[in-house]
Amino acid sequence: MIDFNLSEEQRALQELARDFAQKEIAPVALQYDKEPAFPGEIIKKAHAAGLMNLTCPKEYAGQGVGLVNAALVVEELNAACVAVAGMIGINSLACSPILIGGTDEQKRRFLIPLNQAGKTASFCLTEREAGSDAGSLKTLAKLEGDHYVLNGQKCFITNASYADLYSIFATLDPTKGTKGITGFVIPRESPGLSIGKVEDKMGQRALNVAEVNLDNVVVPRENLLGKEGEGFKIAMETLDEGRANIAACAVGLSRAAFEAALNYAKERVQFGKPIGTFQALNFMLADMAAAVDSARSLTWYAGSMADQGRRYTREAAQAKFFATDVAMRVTTDAVQIHGGYGYTKDYAVEKYMRDAKLMQIYEGTNQVNRMVAGGALMRG
Ligand code: CAA
Repeated sequence: MIDFNLSEEQRALQELARDFAQKEIAPVALQYDKEPAFPGEIIKKAHAAGLMNLTCPKEYAGQGVGLVNAALVVEELNAACVAVAGMIGINSLACSPILIGGTDEQKRRFLIPLNQAGKTASFCLTEREAGSDAGSLKTLAKLEGDHYVLNGQKCFITNASYADLYSIFATLDPTKGTKGITGFVIPRESPGLSIGKVEDKMGQRALNVAEVNLDNVVVPRENLLGKEGEGFKIAMETLDEGRANIAACAVGLSRAAFEAALNYAKERVQFGKPIGTFQALNFMLADMAAAVDSARSLTWYAGSMADQGRRYTREAAQAKFFATDVAMRVTTDAVQIHGGYGYTKDYAVEKYMRDAKLMQIYEGTNQVNRMVAGGALMRG
């Protein structure tokens, strides 16, 4: 039997996240959208509430929950504000390379102090000329005695301005393609590491996204993740989890937009009846609810594959492109149902629609994610 009921423990976790999100994030979401700022106080409170570093094992000062349980929390936080939730959740992506490729000593050295202090990290893969084609990145790492020297520039890096630790991918030899790519952990205070342009974005305005410049940054050998040339696989495995996580974010956003539309459709009266009773809108609401439920099912399915220790590259990619396409459609329909009011900043649905767009782009565009899922199908 397949059981969609949550256990008591899962319900408690979900409620904890929902209460936190509705009390600490939802009331300030529009303010953070209007005046983007680092939500430091909210991050501190989320850390104290046990809502950060969800999938990091307890022995490295994380919460040690699986991907399905993490999805319960992520959905709630993202239903309140995708951007603020993204700043709380960024460590899952940024620290995964250390969990995947690092030694026990590295995990203790980097993760325990970071997680205990509630600090944040960044995942640095993308470059101006290497977005979808991540394997063609050009940031160069050169071995000089007992250390590497890194030169290059990363862009579109979430949380770059505020991170204390960066997991960075560079190549030892660009002629080797993906086989030359190597992962490193670099602390914030490393000389030569600086932050460049901060992006001014359409949506997810409080999500800090900036360039990271590397100018002769000396990285000790002890900060190499895995072996030389293993970085691309570490980055791709990191993105498996990242994509399953984005799917959960999209479910949260879609649910919030659907609930706003449903409430409005019940309250708004035209032609003497609530507008939700007109078939044109009633069918839209039915389609929105079905889409949100389908996206959640695919998200939990990807998470359960991961929690069983099975390869879930295809399931994560399909959950990501499906759930984020749903988010775009449902938030657009939520604006439509609100009519002229929905297009103004007086209602949250306008923000939801802008926030949704980025979801179809980051952690692999939805075209790349279809490529990943389709490729896995063809390989059988
Ligand atoms: N797990 C393990 N290994 C994997 C893997 C996975 N999920 N995916 C690929 N690999 C392995 C392959 O098996 C292959 O290994 P072998 O060489 O031993 O056969 C190797 O990696 C190379 O794989 P490909 O040949 O498939 O590589 P490719 O160059 O064709 O690229 C791609 C594939 C899927 C397009 C990849 O480049 C990709 O995912 N691009 C998008 C990048 C992306 O998502 N960027 C987002 C950055 S993060 C972000 O947006 C948010 C933020 O805040 C920073």
